[in-house]
Order: sequence, then C-alpha cells, then structure tokens
Amino acid sequence: MALTIGVDVGGTKVAGGVVDDQGRILEKVRRPTPSTDPRQTAVVIAEVVDLLKDKHPDVEAVGLGAAGFVDESRAVVQFAPNLAWRDEPIKEKVERLTGLPVVVENDANATAWGEYRFGAGRGEQFLVLVALGTGIGGGIVVDGELYRGRFGIGGEIGHLRMVPDGRRCGCGNRGCWEQYASGNALVHEARELARVAPLMAARLLELGEGSPEGISGPEVTQAAREGDRAALECFGAVASWVGQGLADLAAILDPGAFIIGGGLSDAGDLLLEPVRAAFEAAVTGRGYRRLADIRIAELGSAAGLVGAADLARSR
Ligand code: BGC
Ligand code: NA
Ligand code: ZN
Repeated sequence: MALTIGVDVGGTKVAGGVVDDQGRILEKVRRPTPSTDPRQTAVVIAEVVDLLKDKHPDVEAVGLGAAGFVDESRAVVQFAPNLAWRDEPIKEKVERLTGLPVVVENDANATAWGEYRFGAGRGEQFLVLVALGTGIGGGIVVDGELYRGRFGIGGEIGHLRMVPDGRRCGCGNRGCWEQYASGNALVHEARELARVAPLMAARLLELGEGSPEGISGPEVTQAAREGDRAALECFGAVASWVGQGLADLAAILDPGAFIIGGGLSDAGDLLLEPVRAAFEAAVTGRGYRRLADIRIAELGSAAGLVGAADLARSR
C-alpha cells in the first residue's frame, strides 16, 4: 500500500496528512502559515512533512496544494492573489529540505481531485469544484481528467469579471466573481449591512460583539440558521451571485455536477437552495436542457490534502 503526504497551504494554516491509496488520512499535522516572511513557508511545509515522515518512514512523495497559479511543470507558484507568493519555486525548496519528490498543484484543483476520487464527485466524469472561501477556487474535471489548460492555470474561475468596474480584487482587476460570491463576500455583505442599517443587523452585531468588524463568516451562518432575516438576506445576495456564475460556467463546460466546497459550504442547504434557484433562473437554454446537479463537497477541509496526496501518488 503506497503512502503519500498531502499538504494544503493556505493563507492561515499549513495542514498536512499521510494518506493511503483509498484516500484515508492516517496521520495529521497542522501549523500556522508564517505571516511576516513568505520565504519561511517552505520551512514550515518541510517541518510538517518531516513530522509526518517520522511516523511513516515509507512515504513515497509529497503533493502540495497551494492557493495560487501553478505553472505547467507543477513546480512554481507564479502568482497568488491572496498570498505573498510571486514566482515561488516551492517544489525545489521543499524537495531540498525533505529529500522527497514533490508535486505542486493549485489548491482547488487538488480539492476537485480529492472529491472526484473519494468524495461527492465519485463516478461523475465531468465536474466543477467551486471552493467558496477567502477567494473562489475552481477545479475542473473533464472526462475523468483534471483540466489544467495550456500553461497550467486553467480553472481560475474566481477571477471571472462579473461586474464591470466593480469591487477591486486581490488579483488587481475589478469586479471578479470572488469579490461577490466567496466566504469573504458574505462577511463583506454582513459588515456593510451592520454599518448602514445597525437596527436591522442587531443580531449580527450582537454576535460580532458590537462592531461590524467583529462579524465573521461562521457568525453570519449561525444567525441565518436561527432564522435572522438580515443574515438570510446576506446569504441570499451572495447565493444569487454564486448561482449566476455557475450558469455561466454551465454555458461553457456543461458539467454533470457542481460541487460546492470551502468555508461557505458549511451552511449546507441554507446556501444550496438559493444557489439552485439563481442558477435555474439564469442558465441558458433552461427548460430544454439537463441541468448539472449542485451539491455540497463531502471531504470538508481535508479534500485538498487528500487530493494532493493522490496526485503525488500518480505523479
Ligand atoms: C486564486 C486561486 C485559488 C483560490 C482559492 C483564488 O484567488 O486565484 O488560485 O485556487 O483563490 O484559494
Ligand atoms: Na484551479
Ligand atoms: Zn480577481
């Protein structure tokens, strides 16, 4: 049984695990992502790998999922809208530090692969994973293969420019989908409401300990679960943007399923129902075509590392 290590490198944490060929996690380690010096991230990744390797000396390779544009040789993170990495030769650095072969993959691609192999996408040869978190990650599986594009960075769906001259994005453009439909967008919506209509947002403000800036994603979800109208309205606004984006993606890709992951997907049906409604109202050819199923991811926050580990196995 071949064991590999998967590591998910995000803006706040580096999460690693030893994974077997059935997608089971045998061992887990987690460290905060160094926030001041991005060059230290490779060192933290290597630390995580070494700890895991101590427990399972027979691991063969490392798969890294990183929240950015990974080049076609799967070695360099060229650009990351929400991280400090620019032209970061992460494969080489981690290989040098750990002595293991390393494969780098975009975080959402790794997540899509994990869900396709072991989660909500099993048996679906055409799927799009949409990770709604800090930004929006995309992973596209076409005919059972991960779609990477000509230069490695296909599937950057978070930067579809949905709103002409809209909100500024971490990528430098304006109006990107992730500014309207991500977990961060939900928080943006709730804080704005709390600022301009504090009475309406009373419950949200209470959960945020009195200030709009105190409101975070899980609190908006909690309030919405309690039936708070302001929170439900924030969900409605974000879900509408999600559904409209999915409609555009369906026009191009015609997948069998959209799998919704990322922190925002913790809201489950609270999110899915309005997303489906917005999707069905916007998709082209409606009434005359079969529609992609829209479902929540199954592997939760571990999908990225499980997928990365599996990609390292078949490297
Ligand atoms: C980045 C993607 C990444 C996604 C989720 C986006 O802003 O462009 O590369 O997959 O965020 O982390
Ligand atoms: Na991607
Ligand atoms: Zn953007």
